[in-house]
Amino acid sequence: MICDVKDMTLAAKGRLRMEWAERSMPVLRMIKRDFGKTKPLKGIRISACLHVTSETANLMEALKLGGADVRLCASNPLSTQDDIPAALVKYHRIPVFARKGEDHKTYYRHILQALDHGPHITMDDGADLVSTTHDKRKDLLPGIIGGTEETTTGVIRLKSMARAKVLRYPIIAVNDAQTKHLFDNRYGTGQSTLDGILRATNVLLAGLNFVVAGYGMCGKGVAMRARGAGSRVIVTEVNPIRAIEAVMDGFEVLPMAEAAKSGDIFLTVTGNKSVIRREHFRHMKDGAIVANSGHFNVEIDIPALEALAKSKRRIRDFVDEFKLRDGRRIHLLGEGRLINLAAAEGHPAMVMDMSFANQAMSAVYIARRGRELENRVYPVPTEIDQRIAALKLKSMGSAIDKLTPAQKRYLSEWKEGT
Ligand SMILES: NC(=O)c1ccc[n+]([C@@H]2O[C@H](COP(=O)([O-])OP(=O)(O)OC[C@H]3O[C@@H](n4cnc5c(N)ncnc54)[C@H](O)[C@@H]3O)[C@@H](O)[C@H]2O)c1
Repeated sequence: MICDVKDMTLAAKGRLRMEWAERSMPVLRMIKRDFGKTKPLKGIRISACLHVTSETANLMEALKLGGADVRLCASNPLSTQDDIPAALVKYHRIPVFARKGEDHKTYYRHILQALDHGPHITMDDGADLVSTTHDKRKDLLPGIIGGTEETTTGVIRLKSMARAKVLRYPIIAVNDAQTKHLFDNRYGTGQSTLDGILRATNVLLAGLNFVVAGYGMCGKGVAMRARGAGSRVIVTEVNPIRAIEAVMDGFEVLPMAEAAKSGDIFLTVTGNKSVIRREHFRHMKDGAIVANSGHFNVEIDIPALEALAKSKRRIRDFVDEFKLRDGRRIHLLGEGRLINLAAAEGHPAMVMDMSFANQAMSAVYIARRGRELENRVYPVPTEIDQRIAALKLKSMGSAIDKLTPAQKRYLSEWKEGT
């Protein structure tokens, strides 16, 4: 079988980690059982470009159980957990093209290899798979029914393609499902980002000034968890509404030029570029730690840091120390790539359960209804979002009330007032 993985001897370890993740993925387990019986993806070829983690492996297994012919590559050069590709190839016969630390050329070669079987559906995280298909494999476009997109940055890129009228097939924005971004982006990124920073540095967060750039769904989660660990949290924003929200949530809000002077740890999670740049590095304290959890490694202007530095050395795994000409040291984590996946294991399975339930159900929706859709970005159908929330709640042992007939009537009428 064609594949490109780092080390097949890791397969048994990968299988155990898949099993461990599956225990915290009750909704995906239900989907697996259902897919195994009903085969809703029979005859469908799927090319997936996702972070190659133990949770993703469970999604791949679900799609295959549903009858799909699946290929997988990485959506980031540094996020692959090398035991997982080995397990997927050995025990599930799923072709995977991913090696942790792959260079830029290999990253794109792997995307092309994942596309080589001619997909009906693309499953993307960041839109590199979709943009590569549109640039380099236009011949495949007529055969593609639709695609799904996992993250905020990918949805932004795809909406821009749709606006420019270059998007050639419909996309379901999985990120925008409430059962995705309210939980994965907030609680997943919040916890796993701190996990990545801690595994890379082992610093004590209590008492440090922790600067969070961006108070979106991810930034809220990081700020909340950093405060919980005892840090003094400073938020930077460009959107006044998000900034007021941060103020009312009890955080100090400053422009980055000010925050740069007092921060001990800086974390960007904006989806934007050059959020921390030359003029900010100039003001940072000796020993400052700079990391990113946004999708691409452009949020920190690394070339500017390199230009300011007189030397650079890797002082620990995932920690590069840049020594500036005046003797100050700035530490960049995980080469500026999403630190929760570079230095830790990404989001816990408990939260990926809902994100990947959305992926699996959206794939079925595309297989059934994709030909009726236009070439634009669609939300996940509300019925899918609601069903996933209900299943997750049930799996967590929680129950909710039902509207009474009188309440339903009251909420649909306008006549009853004071
Ligand atoms: N690390 C992960 O596992 C993970 C998980 C989910 C999403 N993401 C990525 O994280 C990024 C943020 O996602 P989100 O869902 O929070 O997006 P979001 O759109 O909800 O929030 C981004 C926030 O950043 C702010 N912002 C933009 N430019 C800024 C600047 N120069 N300075 C300060 N703030 C700025 C925006 O105003 C916005 O409030 C995206 O790239 C997304 O793809 C990463």
